[in-house]
Amino acid sequence: MNPAIIDIRELSYQYPDGTPGLNSVSLQVEEGDCLAIVGPNGAGKSTLLRHLNGVLRGQGKIRVAGIAVERGRLGAVRRRVGMVFQNPDHQLFMPTLMDDVLFGPLNFGLGEAEAWERAEAVMRELGLWELRQRSPLHLSLGEKKKAALATVLVMRPEIVVLDEPLVSLDPGSRRRLLERINNLAATRVIATHDLEMVVRICNRVVLMNHGMLVSEGTPRELFARKELLEANDLEVPSCLQKQGAR
Ligand SMILES: Nc1ncnc2c1ncn2[C@@H]1O[C@H](COP(=O)(O)OP(=O)(O)OP(=O)(O)O)[C@@H](O)[C@H]1O
Ligand SMILES: [Mg+2]
Repeated sequence: MNPAIIDIRELSYQYPDGTPGLNSVSLQVEEGDCLAIVGPNGAGKSTLLRHLNGVLRGQGKIRVAGIAVERGRLGAVRRRVGMVFQNPDHQLFMPTLMDDVLFGPLNFGLGEAEAWERAEAVMRELGLWELRQRSPLHLSLGEKKKAALATVLVMRPEIVVLDEPLVSLDPGSRRRLLERINNLAATRVIATHDLEMVVRICNRVVLMNHGMLVSEGTPRELFARKELLEANDLEVPSCLQKQGAR
């Protein structure tokens, strides 16, 4: 078997104010997986994702694409792991949207011509091209979510980490982005409450609560466990309800 592209061993984290974040989480993700992380508000989903590119550093070991996530290696890690934050305001900081989308490619050593070409392609694809001279500060929330995704896709990372990627999108944008994420060649890790999306595009799902992994399986296996879902403030997604879920 191939070594896991993401390998998390006994990861624990406490926020500086003492709030518990993660409690001995171990998780392996195979190359090409589309892994969903589900669980109630405050379960630790975003906290776990923020460890994958070293934004947070807890106790335990994480390797991505064979590289230890630790001080001195974060540049190499972040070239491989593209992270779309839950809050797009944490991702967008340049005067114009174009500058934001160009920032990664130019800073990771692509030539100007290629950076511009990639930026234009991804912005057209996500319906952002007309907004390219606008300040990201003044975009609508849905526009910001798409812009944050563009800043990551333009880098073509081998691992794409997405925190609630479809929240605040109109139905047309939602459908297009779902397809786009589904068709990415990258390994994907997606934290979400959108269990219908998980059924559509993920091959594996882990359930978290209280900073711990509670259960895992394929979406159809896990979402058939009505009592487990309800005990963790989740519901059987409507696309599976007709099929006699237990
Ligand atoms: N910066 C912070 N300082 C202190 N505590 C925090 C901080 N960020 C998150 N927490 C706490 O850590 C726990 C896990 O939060 P996290 O954001 O990872 O949850 P989540 O599963 O992503 O929830 P949601 O579904 O609401 O996005 C919560 O109790 C939360 O209040
Ligand atoms: Mg979260």
